Amino acid sequence: MSFLERVQQALEDAGQRHVLHFWPELSEQERDSFLQELNQLDLKGLKNHCEGAARAAAARDTGLDLNIEPVPPESLGSATRSCRETLTGWEQEGLLQISDGRVGVLLLAGGQGTRLGVHYPKGMYDVGLPSGKTLYQIQAERIHRVQELADSQQGSKCSIPWYIMTSEFTLAPTEMFFKENDYFGLEQSNIIMFEQRMIPTVTFDGKVLLQDKGKIAMAPDGNGGLYQALVDNKVLEDMKERGVEYLHVYCVDNILVKMADPVFIGFCVSKGADCGAKVVEKAYPTESVGVVCRVGGVSQVVEYSEIQPETAELRGPGGELVYNAGNICNHFFTRSFLQDVAENFNSQLKQHVAIKKVPFVDSCGNQVKPTEPNGIKMEKFVFDVFPFSKNFVVFEVLREDEFSPLKNADGAATDSPTTARNSLLAQHFRWASLAGAALLDEHENMIPPTSSGLAAVGPPAQFEISPLVSYFGEGLDQLLKGRKLKVPFILDGARATQLQAQEHFSDEVSAV
Ligand code: UD1
Repeated sequence: MSFLERVQQALEDAGQRHVLHFWPELSEQERDSFLQELNQLDLKGLKNHCEGAARAAAARDTGLDLNIEPVPPESLGSATRSCRETLTGWEQEGLLQISDGRVGVLLLAGGQGTRLGVHYPKGMYDVGLPSGKTLYQIQAERIHRVQELADSQQGSKCSIPWYIMTSEFTLAPTEMFFKENDYFGLEQSNIIMFEQRMIPTVTFDGKVLLQDKGKIAMAPDGNGGLYQALVDNKVLEDMKERGVEYLHVYCVDNILVKMADPVFIGFCVSKGADCGAKVVEKAYPTESVGVVCRVGGVSQVVEYSEIQPETAELRGPGGELVYNAGNICNHFFTRSFLQDVAENFNSQLKQHVAIKKVPFVDSCGNQVKPTEPNGIKMEKFVFDVFPFSKNFVVFEVLREDEFSPLKNADGAATDSPTTARNSLLAQHFRWASLAGAALLDEHENMIPPTSSGLAAVGPPAQFEISPLVSYFGEGLDQLLKGRKLKVPFILDGARATQLQAQEHFSDEVSAV
């Protein structure tokens, strides 16, 4: 039997004969690439996948939040309610682990960014900061700076490997972008990109959708595809060879993300945790963040798309949300926990249903861009390994310091380029004010510091600090105390050197 005949048979058996409907119309080249795609597909599992997707979509009310309880206080640490001494202890521990080369970071960057509506990876997005930096550049510079902080604590040189999970959609452009930008000054050998798997999208009656006459409409298998991808791409072996024992996993779109955050790493390590999650207080019941909680006594996240509105709206005696531990997709894992997941639990990970508008080719060969959802994407979620943890901890941080995601295009009320940009500039304004700088507007009037760091009216001051200069606000006193600085102002390495060289602290520095 030829390969084509075998494929035909397998599709027939899976009830998916329509996949080859346009075969006679395809050119030689199109047939080759279609066969290649089909060859990579798990044809044996296709029947289960399609039928399972249709069943799961039909029975969407999973009752996931039955037996739900908030995170128990004993597994909760806090950046806001811990004393300075405790925080410093965690920070020192984290920096020590980093300088010993035991910490890596892993970026989840395989998503399609459909809500933002761009056709390139989200990390390449420029939210309109005065510096014009993209999310990838900001992240690279934070890695650079935290390495420096660890180096200066221990007096030796360290590096933090940066693992980047991409998908078929994001790998090539991400690789090219990093290359064009000379890896943002990081060692190329410490940036390891790999690809997650793709799976077919399916109609509500369990039929594979065709994106083209000779191409299946595939989608990444969700950010929980990470665990299969770690195995497929031998990432755990790579971690072992490098001596990496702790991994900070995060999502691409949070402009305030603290990569390899020493405080979080130090907290998790000192608690002996194998798995941890950072949370912020959920802002309002319908906010699109998952809730870290316990279900049936087991730690997990109930995703915003799956929580019952009544549960999300429950309030405690003080009016606070009962389920307020908002997941910011910042996770801590030990390598041995990941190894355990890869060996024993990967196949048990839940499949979640996402109902989407999937462009497709209809049976007459017309390209259709649906206006209503028509397809099912099955996704695994990165946090679905929490129930397998033996010691799961949660770390609560301040939203204004750590969470401002870019999800939507401008015009949306939340999580847009404007809100992301404003959050970062507001943070830098706060840091500058705390360090004792006075920021002046174009008329040389002082911009009043407010508690939120936002200027009283309008957007925050255009005062940006390069992550290469400061990672979490450190080291700014000596540069900024007593200065009057006119905005827009970018405090980058060159400016920092210039300020350091100036003797008189009252000097006014003009805008850049
Ligand atoms: C995610 C969290 C949600 C959290 C919110 C905070 C999950 C499943 N949900 O939701 O609980 O409150 O972030 O912002 O983690 N990605 C892949 N491969 C995929 C799909 C996504 O790598 O197949 C990556 C994306 O590139 C992104 C991250 O995973 O970096 C999160 O994906 P996204 O779809 O933005 O998640 P949310 O629905 O916002």
